[in-house]
Amino acid sequence: MIKIEGISKEFKEGLRAKKVMAVEDLSLDVHKGEVFGFLGPNGAGKSTTIKLLLNLIRPTSGRILINGMNVSDKEVRRLIDERS
Ligand SMILES: Nc1ncnc2c1ncn2[C@@H]1O[C@H](COP(=O)(O)OP(=O)(O)OP(=O)(O)O)[C@@H](O)[C@H]1O
Ligand SMILES: [Mg+2]
Repeated sequence: MIKIEGISKEFKEGLRAKKVMAVEDLSLDVHKGEVFGFLGPNGAGKSTTIKLLLNLIRPTSGRILINGMNVSDKEVRRLIDERS
């Protein structure tokens, strides 16, 4: 149902565009009906991963599929955001 394939997200911070690797090469699968524990210490990249999953931000690399469709797909937007 949710498939994350090797995603990384790098932020460029501040005037000097200092690079911050928020998520590095993360892969995971969550199947329908599964209870998935998404845990990690502060700064591990949990919130960034959820933002990527919601298509609020774009990954630097890798891809995220919902029911086999990319999260940026219009059909996925329709499924998870009733405003669009
Ligand atoms: N917009 C941003 N610009 C620059 N760096 C960021 C940005 N968002 C997150 N980061 C950095 O990316 C890393 C991961 O942050 P993230 O907020 O995803 O972690 P988290 O697992 O949700 O942490 P917490 O448990 O504290 O909520 C941290 O080093 C954070 O400082
Ligand atoms: Mg967080």
